[in-house]
Amino acid sequence: MLRLHYNLEKLSMGLVAAIIVAASIGGIVEIAPLFTIDKTVTIPDDMRQHTPLELAGREIFLREGCYACHSQMVRHLADEIDRYGPYSLAEESAYDHPMLWGSKRTGPDIARLGGKYSDDWHVAHLIDPRAVVPASIMPAYPWLTAPLDIETLSTQLATLARLGVPYTEAMIAGAAHDALAQSRPDSDGAADVAARYGEGVAIRAFDGDPARLTEMDALVAYLQSLGTLTAAARETVGQEMAK
Ligand code: HEC
Repeated sequence: MLRLHYNLEKLSMGLVAAIIVAASIGGIVEIAPLFTIDKTVTIPDDMRQHTPLELAGREIFLREGCYACHSQMVRHLADEIDRYGPYSLAEESAYDHPMLWGSKRTGPDIARLGGKYSDDWHVAHLIDPRAVVPASIMPAYPWLTAPLDIETLSTQLATLARLGVPYTEAMIAGAAHDALAQSRPDSDGAADVAARYGEGVAIRAFDGDPARLTEMDALVAYLQSLGTLTAAARETVGQEMAK
């Protein structure tokens, strides 16, 4: 065997061919499951899309590079399930383009963050992490109190619809209106948001001020939605634990 490798190393084209064969095995193992992804990943019945406000928050999450320190995938390991909750299912990120699983955890995983803290806690933490977690090494993001740009939201929803996320014409056309309404529970449009995205959607002034729509509103709405788009993981993992 060693002899074979020794001789192969002296045949440059042979070695190149052998490297290509060896490397493609790894490639095929990674690519092959994608051919059957429609059959292996089924969308749960209760799964909802992100609202336009949450999507805007997701864009800010990307812009600020939060994913560099926070993964969004609870692994199939007992200590992770104990700490974070039910392990993540592929279908939970079926509407995410791109998905934000990540593997770098300078801070904790946030796949199950929704509902863990109050909106006020998030606002205080983002403006100055050390104000609520004295030993925190997370950077401060005081500029998130800037007004939110909602002009491109319709285009963003339309793009995601082309990628298979079920946004209707009405959702696309009403994106900016819905983003504003989700942060104004007393406005006329609040009922439209609930009708389009479901009663479970949080409709409130996330940054504490219903008069202004800020980047903070969007980011906190996004953080509070994490892990709440479907109950599939809670149900599957709950059933497995009961066995
Ligand atoms: C340099 C790494 C780093 C970056 C970048 C970062 N964080 Fe953090 N984050 C941390 C660390 C460390 C903690 C744990 C200490 C704490 O709670 O402040 C944390 C905690 C958190 C928590 C609390 C999680 C929990 O379950 O207790 C949230 C929410 C959070 N970060 C959101 C964000 C958001 C949103 C951004 C981007 C705007 C961001 N982080 C950027 C390092 C980071």
